[in-house]
Amino acid sequence: MIPQDFVDQLLSRVDIVDVVDRYVPLKKAGQNYLACCPFHKEKSPSFTVSPSKQFYHCFGCGAHGSAIGFVMEYQGLGFVDAVKLLADGVGMPVPEVRSANPEAARERRERQLSLEEALQIAAGYYKQQLKLSPVAVGYFKSRGLTGEIAARFGLGYAPGDWQNLAAVFPDYQDARLLESGLVIEAEDTGRRYDRFRDRVMFPIRNQRGSIIGFGGRVLGQGEPKYLNSPETPLFEKGHELYGLYEAELAIREKNRVLVVEGYMDVVALAQFGIGYAVATLGTATTGDHVKKLLRHADQVYFCFDGDKAGRKAAWRALENSLPQLVDGKALNFLFLPPEHDPDSYVREFGAAAFEQLLEEQSLPLSVYFTRELTGRVDMNTPEGKADLIRQAAPLLAQIAAPVLAFIIRKRLAELAGMEVDELDALTGGQKRTERKGKREYRLPDESYRQINTPIIKKQIKWLLMNPAWGNDVRLPDSMPLSDDLACFAMLAESVQGHDQPPNTAQLMESLRGTPYEALVDSVLQQAMQDPVEFADPGEDDRKLFQDGNQRLLNMLREARWKG
Ligand code: UTP
Ligand code: MN
Repeated sequence: MIPQDFVDQLLSRVDIVDVVDRYVPLKKAGQNYLACCPFHKEKSPSFTVSPSKQFYHCFGCGAHGSAIGFVMEYQGLGFVDAVKLLADGVGMPVPEVRSANPEAARERRERQLSLEEALQIAAGYYKQQLKLSPVAVGYFKSRGLTGEIAARFGLGYAPGDWQNLAAVFPDYQDARLLESGLVIEAEDTGRRYDRFRDRVMFPIRNQRGSIIGFGGRVLGQGEPKYLNSPETPLFEKGHELYGLYEAELAIREKNRVLVVEGYMDVVALAQFGIGYAVATLGTATTGDHVKKLLRHADQVYFCFDGDKAGRKAAWRALENSLPQLVDGKALNFLFLPPEHDPDSYVREFGAAAFEQLLEEQSLPLSVYFTRELTGRVDMNTPEGKADLIRQAAPLLAQIAAPVLAFIIRKRLAELAGMEVDELDALTGGQKRTERKGKREYRLPDESYRQINTPIIKKQIKWLLMNPAWGNDVRLPDSMPLSDDLACFAMLAESVQGHDQPPNTAQLMESLRGTPYEALVDSVLQQAMQDPVEFADPGEDDRKLFQDGNQRLLNMLREARWKG
């Protein structure tokens, strides 16, 4: 966790114009800067960066955000990594909240670097050994791979001896060898030996391209078929995706990512020109994986093997995806014929046939969801329908995308022969049960009906676009506020907590991770349909904002008497 204060300072130190310009050359146009949008294809520039708001927005595709948001989106990084990258650029040390001890944090970082270095050395060695082994080269060739693809994925070969790595690590007792999982130490004798022997090697890279582990496959038959690096300080299987680094460009270009089960599937698809595939590493698809995938592309396809294990893996992926869903992005599931995996399919039928299957036969998550659940019960009996609703309820409660959630509930209600209101009443309503916010503004009082009017959203919009106006806002603090009003109050409070009025980016980032993040995002998205919103407003507008505040106050007072 990075403290909010730090994020705020960071945003006042970096200039979004510099940040964006590093990746996408900008041209000055009036008060703002313009470029062709890096997030969608376009010929004339509609991507706008405002130095005064420290905010970017694309009038073509609606992408928008702060400098942090830009780096997250453009580099496909998580929030913390994006903050670190920006902080590095302006020489601000990022506070490590978890360890109160900066010395320990530095040591950990150095340790990680030295482990990465050890893995890098091993990978270089395996690569070189591949060239020296006609058998290993023959194996890859027999699976249809060219030298070019082998080089792109850094494929290698670990020879059959017990201590191959001694050739590149003069000190075979080097602690890094054990810690990075390259060697195993026998419990009884303490003797060390290489983990990977007589296997073809697939290096696993993180998003920065550093090697964090390996998968090694036996050349013919044998158990285990694949051996993987253990979890280490560098390598957490639930976070990492094999091939993501190599696929980055293709994913961006297609705005599509394909998730498969195996190393060979990724490599074979790439060999056939389908470069946007990644694999989970012999584990279930986690929520973290999905979050990462959705940061990279709007369309995510899961293609698991057609067998029973594949179907199980697909359903697990669906379950873990529900809390990550976002309206406007889509998850799809493709089931291959039982005898195939993506590798064998693309090899037998070619890339065009595979992509056609992907586009025409994939089930959208919503369809797979209802199909699977209705398939489990007897839909011809009321009891079966009741069971359907019972099984669906806990899953429905987890769906994060409100519109899609509604559509799925509607469809289920239809299938069960009821109205969607009735379904909601039976399953505990449409609210997500798992609302994870870092802080709530104030506890909403259940008996108290909140006022809810379009005015609030309008006020939020004004405030986001003109943060200095937050000093005009007075809200009664004796009253519990919830929903949009709480959001408005939090924004105003954030402004009033600053000595200097923050910019739009700082204000927006102050609500990241709270329940109001999505609301702020959608208000901004709507507000900026119009380029005029990027211009600085006049005093007339400010007067309108103040009038709006007064109206809100009046409404609140009335509501209090009625409540
Ligand atoms: P599969 O058994 O489906 O293998 O395992 P595959 O990818 O089709 O392999 P090939 O085509 O025979 O070479 C799928 C994935 O599960 C993990 C690996 O990540 C593998 O790519 N796995 C499988 C293991 O980690 N260990 C194993 O022993 C088997
Ligand atoms: Mn296979």
